Amino acid sequence: MAGKKKTGLRQDNEIIVGLDVGTTKICVIVARITDNNTIDVLGIGRAPSHGLHRGIVVNPNKTTESIKIALEEAELNSGISISSVLVGIAGHYIRCIQTSSIIGINNSDRIIQEEDVARLLEQAKILKLPSDTTIIDVIPQEFVIDGKDGIYDSPVGMFGTKLEAKVNMITGLVSSIDDLSKCVTTCGVDLDDIVLEPIASSHAVLDETEKKVGVAMIDIGGGTSDIAVFKKGVLKYTAGIGIAGNLVTNDIVEALGITEEEAERIKIEYGYSSVSEILNDELITVQSIRANTPKKTSKSILARIIQARMQDIFELSAIEIQNSQIARELHAGVVLTGGGSLIRGTKELAGDILGMEVNLGTPSGLAGGMSKEVENPIYATGVGLVLHRIKTMDDVNKLKEFKKRRKKDSISVKGILAKIKEWFDEL
Ligand SMILES: Nc1ncnc2c1ncn2[C@@H]1O[C@H](COP(=O)(O)OP(=O)(O)OP(=O)(O)O)[C@@H](O)[C@H]1O
Ligand SMILES: [Mg+2]
Repeated sequence: MAGKKKTGLRQDNEIIVGLDVGTTKICVIVARITDNNTIDVLGIGRAPSHGLHRGIVVNPNKTTESIKIALEEAELNSGISISSVLVGIAGHYIRCIQTSSIIGINNSDRIIQEEDVARLLEQAKILKLPSDTTIIDVIPQEFVIDGKDGIYDSPVGMFGTKLEAKVNMITGLVSSIDDLSKCVTTCGVDLDDIVLEPIASSHAVLDETEKKVGVAMIDIGGGTSDIAVFKKGVLKYTAGIGIAGNLVTNDIVEALGITEEEAERIKIEYGYSSVSEILNDELITVQSIRANTPKKTSKSILARIIQARMQDIFELSAIEIQNSQIARELHAGVVLTGGGSLIRGTKELAGDILGMEVNLGTPSGLAGGMSKEVENPIYATGVGLVLHRIKTMDDVNKLKEFKKRRKKDSISVKGILAKIKEWFDEL
């Protein structure tokens, strides 16, 4: 990180840093892939987030300051000098457009190469979009070779003359992406990549089998609840709802006439999303704003306030899951993550409303000194950004491996031709 002179921080090229710019908190996860292929969490930086509204930067100066604080904390915590980060992007302006693309394969051997796939996906990007909209990601759903469909893995290495792809195009507002990028680079770090937050979170809380058989993930944050639907291993649909944990807290403020801090405290300490999950109702003492004197409420009254808003979240989520058009094919049900999923009884309420099996998703499977710290749904996006980087690096390595193999193969083909020539020469 540029700026203040730092002492004792190491530069390290093997480092991956995820930066989650959330509506309530900024979090930075510093990780390293070890020689044993484990991912060590070396440090975490966390700061309250300012200048964002429902996932969108509305006050760049305040957001930049918040990011700086989190980056500095992460550097101190990990002892690593941060030079670049992966940042997540979300918000209700994100759209998911389904489109398709087709190209001819002109190679003499008709073997599809990675360049062909790249050309196909580039072509898919030629879409008429509004001038204030840009493409964030292109996610292939299925490949079709010479009319044969159902190819869900990379078609590289297969034979064909015509290659077709059905793709999901993720788009966002140019201004929002620019604003977020500027806030990050103003802190003196480069951007490795901008990743759709639900995709990032999915790496941290869903496994490949769930994504294959079909699953919906709902990340209930502070400002937005992001929904992502996966099937056959790929993202099929995503949408954002502008109702999340902050509105729940706000409802408590309004209904009980208490401060935001007090509302946040009792939500975390005594809150339930489902009244029927309370086993022992009891009185709660809260500080009122007006007289600054304590007053009484009860767990069940608090739960009624929370439940009303959480119901909104799951009813709207149900509509979005229906919009994905594969609601009936989600055999792994729903996985909840994000800080909003931590209110007691949330899983049960979601199950009642969505009519599906519901589980809670917590980042896991990491190593290193700080790994236990990140095992909390509020870190799903931050951890997921690190895992996304590793996964994309893996894909690059696979491509390199493929290229090497092709080279070897072409050598052996040459070898065989030479052999045949030898046979003829011998005749
Ligand atoms: N232990 C807890 N119990 C209940 N609610 C919690 C708990 N911890 C955090 N929350 C709530 O989770 C919300 C913040 O979640 P999270 O950190 O995932 O959001 P964010 O990433 O900052 O926001 P967004 O993703 O919307 O931009 C807040 O509303 C907070 O009150
Ligand atoms: Mg978030």
